[in-house]
Amino acid sequence: MNTVRWGLLSTANINRRIIPAIADSQRGKVVAIASRDDETAQAYATKWEIRHAFGSYESMLTSDLIDAVYISLPNHLHAEWSIMAMSKGLHVLCEKPFALSVDEVDQMIAASQRYDCVLAEAFMYRHHPQMVIAGEWAHSGWLGDIHVVRSVFNFTLQSHHNIRLNPEYGGGSLWDVGIYPVSFAQFIMGGPPRWVSSFQWTGETGVDETFAGILHYAGDRIAQISSSFRTPFYTTAEVIGTQGRLTLNQPFVALDEEHKMIFHPSDGEPLEIPVPEKELYLGEVEDMHAAILDGVPNYLTLDETRDHIRTVAALYQAAQTNKVVQLD
Ligand SMILES: NC(=O)c1ccc[n+]([C@@H]2O[C@H](COP(=O)([O-])OP(=O)(O)OC[C@H]3O[C@@H](n4cnc5c(N)ncnc54)[C@H](OP(=O)(O)O)[C@@H]3O)[C@@H](O)[C@H]2O)c1
Repeated sequence: MNTVRWGLLSTANINRRIIPAIADSQRGKVVAIASRDDETAQAYATKWEIRHAFGSYESMLTSDLIDAVYISLPNHLHAEWSIMAMSKGLHVLCEKPFALSVDEVDQMIAASQRYDCVLAEAFMYRHHPQMVIAGEWAHSGWLGDIHVVRSVFNFTLQSHHNIRLNPEYGGGSLWDVGIYPVSFAQFIMGGPPRWVSSFQWTGETGVDETFAGILHYAGDRIAQISSSFRTPFYTTAEVIGTQGRLTLNQPFVALDEEHKMIFHPSDGEPLEIPVPEKELYLGEVEDMHAAILDGVPNYLTLDETRDHIRTVAALYQAAQTNKVVQLD
């Protein structure tokens, strides 16, 4: 096998980003689309020039026409359908948030071992050269001792019918976009926090529409994270050390010509750090191809993924109980 044949599980909006990334990747091809509805699948296949359309998720998974599945279902279905796909021998790239509890993550990891399938969280931003360079700056000591990480991901959620507002679907701003700042803090700090405190503002449907958390690490280090569905689009990330701070104005998504990574030394002029261009979703796809075709371990490990979910679950528990929650 030298090409991965991909099937997309659902006609989700986000597919529009992964389809061109797989097309650009050289070693993969989207060959199938599955929807709950046959007409929707057929129309989607025509629009995106996908060869095979399936009117149920099961029929694509048992078709023998694909090697790997991209799971872009609502959050509450990630674990169930990832496990189902792996039970048919298919490799899985599952959207963030990977699952809605640590127990679900553990079941997914167990399935990947039982069925010998590659399984990875689709956290595209971690694969971009910008994040690799930010990691080098943070971990090389150039910033001195890092004491604070700050990160935000906000946007205005316009539709009242969005899956992100449904508590039964794993809705909420922290699950949806706050998990990026959580993941960034974990990446920079080298692991999950020891304890967390937080506060959430709950909307009419019962999900957090704005969330703020403080993550406490060994060595008196903290990360401040927040997310919201109620403000215009805004992302930022900042790593603050004894020798200076590193700021990223587009850490997670847009990465257009306005993006900037700047080192502000404790004395001296700010230094803009160049970042190589790369299509944002290509890295996670190439990473899957290397894992499936060459047997290379995934860049983002399942232990890291498990810790993302562990931290988010602890942050929700802290907000809902109004208490500090210990992780270790
Ligand atoms: N990494 C990123 O940049 C990124 C960006 C956006 C979203 N995401 C993630 O991708 C996932 C999908 O988000 P999205 O905004 O693209 O979703 P969406 O447009 O609302 O699509 C979700 C799809 O899931 C299927 N589905 C199955 N059961 C459903 C149910 N009960 N209610 C609604 N839809 C159902 C539907 O496809 P069929 O009708 O075809 O079956 C629907 O099109 C989420 O987990 C989200 O966190 C990731």
